[in-house]
Amino acid sequence: MCGIVAAVAQRDVAPLLIAGLKELEYRGYDSAGLAVLEGNQVRRIRAKGKVREMESLYQADPFPGGTGIAHTRWATHGMPNEANAHPHVAGRVAIVHNGIIENYAPLREALQARGHVFTSETDTEVMAALIDARIDTGLGLREAVLAVVRELEGAYAIAVISRDEPDCVIGARRGAPLLVGVGIGENFLGSDAQALIQVTNKMIYLDEDDVVEITRERVQVFGLDGRPVERETHESELSADAVERGEYRHYMQKEIFEQPRAVADTLESRIGPHGVLPNIFGVGGDELLAKVRGVHIIACGTSYHAGLVAKYWIEEYARLPVAVEVASEYRYREAVVPADTLFVAISQSGETADTLAAMRESRRRGYLGTLAICNVPESSVVREADLKLMTRAGPEIGVASTKAFTTQLAALALLTLRLAHERGLDETRYLALCEQLQSLPRMIEQALQLEPEIQALAEHFIPRHHALFLGRGVQFPVALEGSLKLKEISYIHAEAYPAGELKHGPLALVDEDMPVVAVAPNGPLLDKLKSNLQEVRARGGELIVFADKAAPMDGNPSRGSVLRVDAGGEFIAPAVFTVPLQLLSYHVAVLRGTDVDQPRNLAKSVTVE
Ligand code: AGP
Repeated sequence: MCGIVAAVAQRDVAPLLIAGLKELEYRGYDSAGLAVLEGNQVRRIRAKGKVREMESLYQADPFPGGTGIAHTRWATHGMPNEANAHPHVAGRVAIVHNGIIENYAPLREALQARGHVFTSETDTEVMAALIDARIDTGLGLREAVLAVVRELEGAYAIAVISRDEPDCVIGARRGAPLLVGVGIGENFLGSDAQALIQVTNKMIYLDEDDVVEITRERVQVFGLDGRPVERETHESELSADAVERGEYRHYMQKEIFEQPRAVADTLESRIGPHGVLPNIFGVGGDELLAKVRGVHIIACGTSYHAGLVAKYWIEEYARLPVAVEVASEYRYREAVVPADTLFVAISQSGETADTLAAMRESRRRGYLGTLAICNVPESSVVREADLKLMTRAGPEIGVASTKAFTTQLAALALLTLRLAHERGLDETRYLALCEQLQSLPRMIEQALQLEPEIQALAEHFIPRHHALFLGRGVQFPVALEGSLKLKEISYIHAEAYPAGELKHGPLALVDEDMPVVAVAPNGPLLDKLKSNLQEVRARGGELIVFADKAAPMDGNPSRGSVLRVDAGGEFIAPAVFTVPLQLLSYHVAVLRGTDVDQPRNLAKSVTVE
C-alpha cells in the first residue's frame, strides 16, 4: 500500500526521504517519487518500479533542500507509470497521498470546466489542484488543506508542501495511517514508525480527521474545525535493528525462523503453571469476558484464517457459539448479533481498511464489547478497541504473514482458555491445555528442523501450475493458510478443501500433474483423512503428507512423500503444522525466482477498501 515520508529540517532532506521510503518498501508499491523545495522551486523526481530506480535519478542530479515529501505508490486510480506516480504538482502545491477519494470524479470535472488541465489519471492530482485553487483565494497552506479535506469523501493520508511557505509541511489523515516523528530542530511525517525510526524514536500518532503542521521547531495538530488539539508524544519501542534482514536471504525466511521467540514473547507473563493470568486483556477485560455468550470474529486474509482456527477451539473448549467472517463482507451486511456477543478484530497491522471499518460498524450493532488482537500497539484498531491483546511478533516485513499468524494463534489460544475456564472447563483438562500451549515455542522450533527435507520437496513444485491443500477439522483453516501462502508468493494456483469435500467436486482435478498437500494430525479424524488420501492415490495424484509423528500411516505413497512432524498435542497442532507449510511455500517461491518479500500486486498493509 502507498507509503508516505515527509521532512522539514536544516539539512538536505532528499537522502532522508529516500531512506524512509526504503523502510516502507515492504508495504508493496509500483512506483516512487519525491519533491523537495529548493528555494522557491519544487524539484521533483518520479520513477516506475523500485525506490532504488528513483534514487539513481536523484544521485545522477542531486539537489539541496530542507523541506520535502516522498511516496511509494500502489496503483488505485490509473496505471502504474511515471505520470501517475506521486508527488503530484498543481501550481505552487505538491502533494503525496495514500487512500482513495470517492468523490474525486465530480471534483475533477468541476476543475476541468474551469480550465484546469490534468497530467495524470489520479484522484490525488485533483486534491493538489483544489488546494492550489484555495490558496488563490488568499488562504494559507494549512487553511487551504483544511478547506479541501472537509470536501473530500473517502480515505486519505496526505503530506503537502507549497512554494509560498517553504518551511512547513501540512499533513492530514482520515482512514489511512499517518504519524509525526519529532526530532531536534527537525520534524517528520511517515506512514508508520518504521519509516522514521532511523531519524527519531519520538512519535505522535494522529487521530482521525487530524490536520498537522510541521516546521523545523514546531508540531501543531488541528481538528477538522481548525482548532488546535493536543496529541501525546510516545517513545517508540521499535529498534532500527529489528527491521534488519541479518543472515537470512529474505525477510520471510527470517520471520519464519523468529516464530519460537515471537510466540514465547506473546505468551510471556500471560500464562503460568496455574493457568491464564488475570488482567491480560486490559482494564475491565476479565469482567467483560465473564459475561460473553457468543463471539463474532472479523478479519482479512491470514488473520481470517487464525479466526477460523479459534472458532474450532472456542466452540470445543468453551462451548460458546462463534461466527467468523471476512471484514469486507461483514461491514456491508446486516449480521444478527445475539445478546452478550463479543466482537473480536484480528489484524497484524491494525490498519487494514476493511477490518477497521467493520470494527467501527460493530459499534452500531450492539456488541457486549470489542477486543483487538493485533501486532501494532499504536494502530487504529488497537486504539479504538475496548480490550486488546497484543501479539508480540515484532515488525513483520515480508508481505506474506508468517509469525503474525502463529502469534495470533497463541493470543487466540489464551482467549479460548480464559473463556473455557470461565465456562467451567474441567480443571485437569484446562491445566493440561495450558501446559500444551506453553510448549508451543519448543514444538515450532522442532518443526523448523524439517527445512532441509522441505527444501528438497519444493523442487517437485517448480513446473506445477496448480496444487490442492487438504485438512480436516481444525486443520482445514491450516490448509487454507498453506494454500494462501503458496499462491501469494510462488504464483501457483492453490486451493484448500476440507478433505471430506474432495469427492464432491475437486477430485475431478486430481491427476498426475496435481500435487496434493495434506495435513494429518493424530486424532479421531485420521482414518477418515486416510480414506480421502486413498481417493487421491487411486487417481495417480502426487501426495505430500505432513503427518504427526504419532499418526500410524501406511508407508510412503507410490507418488509423493510423508514428512513426520511432532505436533505436540491436539490443541497446539494447528500452529505447529503451519510451519512446514510456510517453509514449503517459501522454498517453492525461491526456486521459482519470484520476489518473495514483495510479491507482485500485493501490499503488506491494505489501507484502502
Ligand atoms: C497474507 O500473507 C497477507 N499478508 C494478507 O492476507 C493479510 O493477512 C491481510 O491483508 C490482513 O492484514 P492484517 O492482518 O494486517 O489486517
